[in-house]
Amino acid sequence: MPCSVVVCGFFGDTGKGKVISYLALKDKLDITARAGVGPNAGHTVIVGGRKYGLRMLPSAFMQKKCRLLIGPGVLVNPEILLNEMKLTESTSRVGVDPQCAIIEARHIEADKVGHLAKDIRTTGTGTGPCNAERALRKVTLVREVKELKDYLTDVPLEVNKAIDSGKQVLIEGTQGTYLSLFHGTYPYVTSKDVTASAACSDVGVGPTKVDDVIIVFKAFTTRVGAGPLPNEISLAEAEKRGWTEYGTVTGRPRRASPFNVELAKRAVMLNGATQAAVTKIDVLFPECKGATSYNKLSKDAKAFIENIEKEIKIPVTLIGTGPDALEMVNRRRS
Ligand code: IMP
Ligand code: MG
Repeated sequence: MPCSVVVCGFFGDTGKGKVISYLALKDKLDITARAGVGPNAGHTVIVGGRKYGLRMLPSAFMQKKCRLLIGPGVLVNPEILLNEMKLTESTSRVGVDPQCAIIEARHIEADKVGHLAKDIRTTGTGTGPCNAERALRKVTLVREVKELKDYLTDVPLEVNKAIDSGKQVLIEGTQGTYLSLFHGTYPYVTSKDVTASAACSDVGVGPTKVDDVIIVFKAFTTRVGAGPLPNEISLAEAEKRGWTEYGTVTGRPRRASPFNVELAKRAVMLNGATQAAVTKIDVLFPECKGATSYNKLSKDAKAFIENIEKEIKIPVTLIGTGPDALEMVNRRRS
């Protein structure tokens, strides 16, 4: 897999951070390029017993040889990025494209009031107002700010050169298919397209350069903020089932529903996915906690996975069995 793209097939928060950190270690990734909207994302990574909630940096930082790039399509909050670089001790490996747009205080203020806060219930991180200003061609770009000048790099050029020389490249999508401005539950969506094609565009990679699109689902479906969630269960019922989660960025409780096969099928189509990951199988089937081989999963868990495969018609190659990066069943052909 010289170049793969990782995206979410539901509403975000399906475990892209965990899947990417696993691949970073197992596939010895050379380059991870962050795509997506910006710091409205929260990718949770747990390695060596430590938990990181990343909003700007790629989730592959624990692979010490991996370059960590941010593509020109992504909105950058310099303060959050610099903090994460320090936290992960990755400063020497980070590259930011000069054409990324900068989130400023006025964007964050505008995201915390009125329609965006009350009706859409955004993350309040300034991404929508910043993308709006970008479309109006009035936004500030990374190339104009001093604090990031040491990290500037031509991300599309670096990524394409790496792909052409057979290096292991991963494009990290954010949010989820049904939060896409084009394909999601408009108006309850984020401020741009976030499917695999958009992720490629964010980092300057053309569709002919991609070998694999890995779509990430969770064993149950969740959503934060406003908007439809078919077959939603009550917070009390979610608690009873052990499905309660809180937003990485906002701390808000996530709404929950059982795994939605219809949404999954359409997401596979919209993203051109070639393989799927299903995370948190241990939440539905606690006996599977920590398993790292398929034959260690219980009969019920295997039936659950095989039913998903039958419906979505692509293989489920990665199965998450716990929060740590390495708690994973890997069924990929190597
Ligand atoms: P915005 O992206 O902050 O404008 O928020 C728009 C909608 O997308 C809101 O419902 C948010 O809760 C949701 N959203 C944005 N980013 C994420 C994410 O990374 N995970 C889950 N939901 C998100
Ligand atoms: Mg998240």
